[in-house]
Amino acid sequence: MRLRFKENAIPEMKENPQIFFGGKENKGKWKEIFGNDNDIYLEIGSGRGDFLVEIAKDKPNINFIGLEVNTNAFVVCSRKMKESELTNVRGLISDAENLEEIFEGEEISRIYLNFSTPWPKRRHHKRRLSHERFLNRYKNIIKDKAILELKTDNRDFYEASLKYFEDFSMDIIEKNENLSEEKSKYISEYERKFRNKKMPIYYIKARFNK
Ligand SMILES: C[S@@+](CC[C@H](N)C(=O)[O-])C[C@H]1O[C@@H](n2cnc3c(N)ncnc32)[C@H](O)[C@@H]1O
Repeated sequence: MRLRFKENAIPEMKENPQIFFGGKENKGKWKEIFGNDNDIYLEIGSGRGDFLVEIAKDKPNINFIGLEVNTNAFVVCSRKMKESELTNVRGLISDAENLEEIFEGEEISRIYLNFSTPWPKRRHHKRRLSHERFLNRYKNIIKDKAILELKTDNRDFYEASLKYFEDFSMDIIEKNENLSEEKSKYISEYERKFRNKKMPIYYIKARFNK
């Protein structure tokens, strides 16, 4: 059953016009794809898409793109998108390493990092999606003063991310070491899992300065 599911993930998503593979051919054209001038918010590492679909339902005047490398997780997101019949959400199968090849400067107005892999080992810190290496990529695709919002269950990752943002001259607008469910509003699969275990949710809202 599991194997069948994996084998079918890519062909199934290829049938969904809301899902793009690679996305490099769309650089500079994302507004055309959505058919309007609304802001585009990007979630990196969307997993099964619970957050992405919920926020897109709630904010019809914003366009949302979910980026994910894991096709087995993202096929679930693809199904949710289809069922919801939303017109303001798209999915992108790619690695965050490629962001500057997918988006032109200023195409993105906000970035969400929800429960990103914390990569605890020092030699892997460069892979963290809040690391300076990625902040430089984000800077090249966002509007000036764009907001980045991060949620995590991992205290070390939260503290390290605060430091990465400050060292990158970003303004910390808000930080919270126990974000309430009411304030969190759109709950991802991982957030639900950690909340069920009564674990604290860490949150950062920061602003880029170009
Ligand atoms: C721990 S899961 C969290 C999934 C979801 N955001 C949630 O909160 O339920 C982290 C996700 O980020 C994705 N991811 C990690 N590094 C990535 C990268 N460089 N580019 C795109 N996706 C990435 C992983 O494939 C995984 O699905």
